[in-house]
Amino acid sequence: MGDIRFDGKVAVVTGAGGGLGREYALDFAKRGAKVVVNDLGGARDGSGQSRSAADTVVDEIKKMGGSAVACYDSVSTVDGGENIVKAAVDAFGRVDILVNNAGILRDKTFIKMTVEEWDSVMSVHLRGAFCVTRPALAVMREQNFGRIIVTTSVSGVFGNFGQSNYGAAKMGLVGFMNVLKLEAAKYNIHINAVAPNAVSRMTQDVLPPEIAKKMLAKFNVPMVVYLCSEECAENGSIFVMGAGWFGKAAVVCGSGIALGDAKRDIPAEEVRDNFSKIANLDGAKPLSNSAEVFQFMAPLLS
Ligand code: NAI
Repeated sequence: MGDIRFDGKVAVVTGAGGGLGREYALDFAKRGAKVVVNDLGGARDGSGQSRSAADTVVDEIKKMGGSAVACYDSVSTVDGGENIVKAAVDAFGRVDILVNNAGILRDKTFIKMTVEEWDSVMSVHLRGAFCVTRPALAVMREQNFGRIIVTTSVSGVFGNFGQSNYGAAKMGLVGFMNVLKLEAAKYNIHINAVAPNAVSRMTQDVLPPEIAKKMLAKFNVPMVVYLCSEECAENGSIFVMGAGWFGKAAVVCGSGIALGDAKRDIPAEEVRDNFSKIANLDGAKPLSNSAEVFQFMAPLLS
């Protein structure tokens, strides 16, 4: 099999002025893609803005002979999302790849969290994915091709102390993906989620220095690049990665136990008495859509 190439393809990477997004943008460009480098250029908590982050990455791409344009809009407004996609269409005529990567952190234990800290994180991660993906999907549908990445996190998929806003937004993106994978598949548009792990300004003060040295952002790039390639048929999956390790995560459903017969009332005591069987995840499987849950109830419904 040959190299993965993106000649003639256009990639939009949000939050590409630094950290993981910059690494994705550079690799797409090296592999022949024309790239829109979007970045608001604010601080880690989302405050402020500057053009220099996106401009610097565009310069890096141009210096290595690639094509790129900068876009400084925020992902979290409808106009911003439309401008980001318009930047791609105006400069390069299409959008093949969208990596929803922009992100901020406003960590606090839940009891101390302000509504502003909740809303600002939701706004960049979850609303941001809506605002950019909607116009991008419209272009991809016309092309009958697209590859979309949402950036989730182990904080949302598995939990992390002090990040209820971030975890909720990140798991919200998994729900977003689960629905879009069904709506967009017929247009040859695939959407997958990645949960990267890397030292960046977002994590530099939480990772121990010895570990941080090895958790380089670039080690997360190959998964994103492969998922965005035309040859990759994967759709609707979550991949966790870091330091060169890659694995798949999934929301699974156990086969459970039929206590009732869809006629008889079931007292809570019966759930209590059968709880270990109900909660048993041996042989649990991911479901490809919500209707599949009815397979477990089918014997009671026939
Ligand atoms: P980073 O802080 O280096 O990069 C995030 C970029 O997004 C920044 O350049 C920032 O200016 C930009 N950005 C923030 N708000 C924006 C907005 N409204 N519009 C456009 N751009 C905006 O952080 P890092 O680590 O590279 O994170 C990238 C993504 O990966 C984020 O979504 C983050 O939540 C996610 N992630 C990172 C992990 C890690 O270990 N570094 C772990 C799990 C998820």
